[in-house]
Amino acid sequence: MSVFQGEVSSLPPDKSISHRAALIGALAEGSTEITNFSGGYDNQSTLSVLKDAGIAIRQQEIPAGDGRIVRNVVIESGGLWSFKAPTQPLMCNNSGSTMRMLAGILAAQPFRSELVGDASLMKRPMKRIADPLRQMGAEISLTPAGTAPVVIVGTRDLKPIEYHLPVPSAQVKSLVAFAAMHADGRSKIIEPIRSRDHTELMLGLETIDRPDGVREIIIDGRKPLGAKPFHVPADPSAACFMIALGLLGQRSEVVLRQVCLNPTRVAYIDLLQEAGAGLVIENARSVGGELIGDIVVRSCSSLKPLRISDHAVVAGVIDEVPMLAVLSAFASGEFELHNAAELRTKESDRIDAIVVNLQRLGFECEQYPDGFVVKGRTGSIQQDVVIECFDDHRIAMSFAIAAEAAGASLVLSDRDVVGVSFPNFFSIIDSLRQ
Ligand code: S3P
Repeated sequence: MSVFQGEVSSLPPDKSISHRAALIGALAEGSTEITNFSGGYDNQSTLSVLKDAGIAIRQQEIPAGDGRIVRNVVIESGGLWSFKAPTQPLMCNNSGSTMRMLAGILAAQPFRSELVGDASLMKRPMKRIADPLRQMGAEISLTPAGTAPVVIVGTRDLKPIEYHLPVPSAQVKSLVAFAAMHADGRSKIIEPIRSRDHTELMLGLETIDRPDGVREIIIDGRKPLGAKPFHVPADPSAACFMIALGLLGQRSEVVLRQVCLNPTRVAYIDLLQEAGAGLVIENARSVGGELIGDIVVRSCSSLKPLRISDHAVVAGVIDEVPMLAVLSAFASGEFELHNAAELRTKESDRIDAIVVNLQRLGFECEQYPDGFVVKGRTGSIQQDVVIECFDDHRIAMSFAIAAEAAGASLVLSDRDVVGVSFPNFFSIIDSLRQ
């Protein structure tokens, strides 16, 4: 077992907030300055498709003096209808957030556009974005399987909508909100299970929390949006990997600086604390409407097995499940998850990807349509087991952490896929290893 110690100030800027800052900048009148924009491939895909759709964007890379590169982005736009008909299909690469959230904006632009992605993205479900946009009056076509290419014939005459979210998806919620900003009247999004709320916070949308726990989000259409600056804090979904490294490592202490602690993003911290993990939050404060703080992680000699089935908890840890499952399996031998069929629609079928790889490492697992269980391990981990990454950054990183912490040399089928959200993943691990 290895020892990991040190402070990390160079976690990647939050992926969700970076996407939204760029998209909101493209909708706002004037010049939007975004500091600490993410260099991950997904966020860079959002910038490149916005440019291809006629939005003026400048990106500056500034050496921070401590080896880090800070990216600042300036977006110039004339407001809600500043997009231009693209001359080619818009390539979203691996980024579901780019494809889905941008669709909400393009549905309101009076031209035809087409959204495409890499092999993984072309398999992901898009009916969930077509349904509300068709109800609002846009023409959307998909393949018969309900996947991309997403062809959009937008209209300036979008109708307002009252939309009951059928899945707890912040991407769907955001695309409906972006479309509704262009509609002629007041729209309402009804959210029975809470998902991340960055769009609401960044746009200053009115929200109503009903006594039955359901949230309503109100959007008044065609209200001019003024440009304002955004600062992007570190990504809690990236922090999760370094937390697992610190917990699994021996005699380890890792401090993660200025991490976004928005309550809709940190359910995994609560789960780990309940399971006995040594995690302390320090310097919590609000910056630009988002809660941020430092996370202190100390190695944990015993962690209770994680068992997750509550729908709201599943929604709260949807991106962290791969790391939580691997962490729980390594720390306690067990893990159990239910009500999480949504995981089969991510960058890979994550239920299958986690189970296949844990089995290769000797864990006994069983998968269900909506989850899986890990029942323990027989024997020790073989060296040089090949981990299949399935084009999925979070699968690659979860098993890379397991390998580090367990001192096993695993072979990742694709190391570079980590760049989708966390380009400096391996260099941070190297800097912490004692
Ligand atoms: C995201 C929402 C989630 C998440 C994804 C980022 C976002 O997807 O898995 O990584 O930024 O809104 P869904 O909206 O499909 O749940």
